[in-house]
Amino acid sequence: MRTFAIHSYKGGTGKTTLAANLAAIMAKKGHDVAILDTDFQAPSLHTLFGIATRSCYVNDFLSEKVKHTEVLTDIGSTFDLSGKLFVGFSDPNVEAIREQLAKDRKWHMQAISQLLVLKQKLEKEGFDYFILDSAPGVHYSSVNTIVVSDFTIIVAKIDNFDFDGTAHLLDELYGPLNKDTMLLFNKVVPNLLEGKSSAGLIEMVKEMFEGKTQLLGFLPCYCNVPLGMGSEVLALTQPDLPFIAKLIEIEQKIEAAEFPGD
Ligand SMILES: Nc1ncnc2c1ncn2[C@@H]1O[C@H](COP(=O)(O)OP(=O)(O)OP(=O)(O)O)[C@@H](O)[C@H]1O
Ligand SMILES: [Mg+2]
Repeated sequence: MRTFAIHSYKGGTGKTTLAANLAAIMAKKGHDVAILDTDFQAPSLHTLFGIATRSCYVNDFLSEKVKHTEVLTDIGSTFDLSGKLFVGFSDPNVEAIREQLAKDRKWHMQAISQLLVLKQKLEKEGFDYFILDSAPGVHYSSVNTIVVSDFTIIVAKIDNFDFDGTAHLLDELYGPLNKDTMLLFNKVVPNLLEGKSSAGLIEMVKEMFEGKTQLLGFLPCYCNVPLGMGSEVLALTQPDLPFIAKLIEIEQKIEAAEFPGD
């Protein structure tokens, strides 16, 4: 089983959208996939998968209140996928978000153990991929997902905030943790991916990041991606979109990726 987090320096780069669609693409191919919403400050996967209130959440599993089987919802059967697609949602109730923000270091240490326990159980149950949709930045909950992952996919936009922030994360977080990463640029202005501009863009990215991370690719900004108003996983509902075709190429690169420690 391969475990990876999807993380970013700044918010809104497209992590949740990419995590859910990559998970769906993998499950459609026949892989057994589990995906967790670990963004406790702004839970989103329930909206994307169109799931209403649950009786328990990832928060409860990390607090050792429920078993992992109670938290993971089987989405695969609804969509007739070849592989399993199990999703763990984070508690979207405001009180739960506030409670989560107040958790101390001790709780987060226990949360790492619980994530490791879950990783072990999923591996034993024969899952192929375990995906963690992280919160942006360097809060404990994000760092925990990076710690338990085999590698992390960093999602960035083409702007100076993300360039600078991602460079800091590579040097001061992933590096010291000895964690492998892949860098994916999302919402790229389509013009930048054509002809001479594309060569220039690749050159600039190489100059900044070569030797520090593996470049996973560039995904254009598609105006129709947010049209589902954040309430559908396009790989499941509109698989013929150019956005999904590009994401299928990205998924193949993730499957083929090799890291020094593998
Ligand atoms: N390639 C794309 N083209 C156009 N819109 C996109 C693309 N990728 C994602 N989006 C849109 O960007 C918005 C933010 O996406 P998303 O919530 O997945 O980001 P996020 O990184 O998970 O945010 P957060 O840091 O708050 O968790 C959504 O409206 C989503 O539909
Ligand atoms: Mg998100």
